[in-house]
This record gives sequence, structure tokens and C-alpha cells, in this order.
Amino acid sequence: MEATEEGESHGRSPLPGAFSRLEQRWEPESAPDTAILVNGGGPECQSKISGDNLLDRGPLFRFLADDHVRLGRLLEKALPRLGKTNYGAYAEFRAGLLKHIAMEEKVLLPVARRRRGGEPLPISDKLRHDHGALAALLVPTPTPEILATIRAILNDHNEVEDGPDGVYEVCERLAADEAESLVTEMRNLPDVKLAPHVDGPQVMEATRRALERAGYRLEEHG
Ligand SMILES: [Fe+2]
Ligand SMILES: [Fe+2]
Repeated sequence: MEATEEGESHGRSPLPGAFSRLEQRWEPESAPDTAILVNGGGPECQSKISGDNLLDRGPLFRFLADDHVRLGRLLEKALPRLGKTNYGAYAEFRAGLLKHIAMEEKVLLPVARRRRGGEPLPISDKLRHDHGALAALLVPTPTPEILATIRAILNDHNEVEDGPDGVYEVCERLAADEAESLVTEMRNLPDVKLAPHVDGPQVMEATRRALERAGYRLEEHG
């Protein structure tokens, strides 16, 4: 599926259905039409990118990988302690992840496609399906199972982006001469206005479908 080309050429959201529905709940006139991603919670899902190994990276890579680290810390902070989820940290994580996805969907992937003569990155469909699954998971009130699933997806997804020969490295090479201005453009995207959580069987069914499209399933244990 050439999600990018099809979506852009018809003026529709380039994201899978789950995100499109989510976007509608998130005031699309101000919210980015993309969702986001970040690093997971516990030590096992901390970004492998941090500190010294960021120093020799380009600005595009550093900016987005730093955001992975920031979001990973927020998710870790949100995880239930003694049965209590930190909803304040989760709200910050939720908004941050959505903006991160917007930065990738609205700026990074389109630039990669432009620099490749109109050909999207081969991995772009997977990224968009992952983003759609993450966005869907952000709709309902977080449960331990939802938090564990977000963490598991981010572990996989972030490695694809900031790992060796990952999406960020490729994009940095493709757009090295405009990397600084792209960072400014991403930074200046509007913050996402979050709608309240929506719960119920229909929401969970939509979430399961989004997960299935991306090749994941809801974790059974938080
Ligand atoms: Fe992503
Ligand atoms: Fe990312």
C-alpha cells in the first residue's frame, strides 16, 4: 500500500484508519494529522541512543532521538506504582508522542520521499501502521495492558528509527543540507490539543484492529 502517495494526492490523512478516527477526536484544525511514538517504559525499553553516542550525529537525528529518550522517561514515570498510574505524566507523554508522530509524518517522511524523487522510504508503511496503532492505544483510559503494549511497540519502533542504518540515519543523509531548518520546522509544529479519553467496547475493538494491522496484539499483562 502506497499510503503516503495515495493519502497526499487525495488530501487525506496519510495515516491508517485508526489514527484518522483519533485525529477527528483531537480537533484536526489544530492537531497534527499524525500520531507519535516514543520510547517505552522500563529499563528494557530505554533508548539505546543517549549521551555520548548522540554527539557525532547530525541535528535531525539528535533532535528526534532525544525526543525518544524524553518520551521514554515520561512513559516510565507514568507506569503504575503500587497499583497507581501517574496520569499527569501520562498526559504529558500522550501529547508528546502525538507531536513526535506529527513531526515524522508531516516533515520527516515527506522530505525523505521528496529527496528520493517521489519514492517513499520502503519502511514508511510499517512506520505509519505503528503510528496508527500507537495513536489508537492513546484513545482509551490507560490500563496496565495498554501501557505495556505501548512500551512493547515503542521498543520495536524506535529501534527501526534510531538504530543502526535506521530511518533517522537515512533521512539525515538524504537531507543533510537542510537538517537544521527541518528541525526548526518540526519544533514549530503546533502542540496537540488532547481530547478526553474515550472508553468502551467499540474503542477497544478499533484499537485491536489497529494493532492487528501493525502486526501487534494487546499485551495480556501490564
Ligand atoms: Fe515513528
Ligand atoms: Fe520516532
